[in-house]
Amino acid sequence: MSAGAPLKLAILISGRGSNMSAIARACLNGQIAARTAIVISDRADAGGVASAAQLGIPTAIVARGTARDAAAFEEALAATLEAQQPDAIALAGFMRILSSGFVARFLGRMFNIHPSLLPAYRGLHTHRRVLAAHETEHGASVHFVTAELDGGPVVLQSRVAVAADDTEATLSARVQTTEHIIYPQVLAWFAQRRLAWREGAAWLDGRRLETPIVEDFRAPA
Ligand code: GRF
Repeated sequence: MSAGAPLKLAILISGRGSNMSAIARACLNGQIAARTAIVISDRADAGGVASAAQLGIPTAIVARGTARDAAAFEEALAATLEAQQPDAIALAGFMRILSSGFVARFLGRMFNIHPSLLPAYRGLHTHRRVLAAHETEHGASVHFVTAELDGGPVVLQSRVAVAADDTEATLSARVQTTEHIIYPQVLAWFAQRRLAWREGAAWLDGRRLETPIVEDFRAPA
């Protein structure tokens, strides 16, 4: 990306696409100095595909076939992405595990949002597991994608309280509301060139982030 030019963003989804919508709207209203060049889904029936089209964003479906076709799927995905020459790629509820070779092609410009306070609760069903463990705090993390699943450097986290009467649905809704704030924020920093990937780490305003920035959404006591 050339200095000062608006960033070209690709967003990958598999489902509802609420994070995609939050990011795309933030691009449209100028919060992120970027243009959403494409929304790619691995599922034709993902709700986010229609939402993206309604926002006037080009969409593409790269369907995954059988497990045997994993390499062909990634090749098709990489080709669709590279045709856009994106400066940044946002995985937003994209439910495919990407190989280290794929990640290497886009290292330093690919982000993900994960619904937990990483490094706690990597993987699936985070809200359920947080409730089962009687945690009092939970949240979401926006991180650079590396070959290690949910293991790349975290830039920004949201922290929410877990209520005694929370269900998986109420807790995930509370976390998701914060996702729609922190994901656009990270992409805005990247578009402003305040956030960068260097030496395998995240750097903000010229400083290496040793720990993530935490935005606290717990109600004051
Ligand atoms: C989000 O909760 C995100 O943390 C996780 O998948 C969910 C996607 O939701 N990676 P949506 O499709 O953005 O609504």
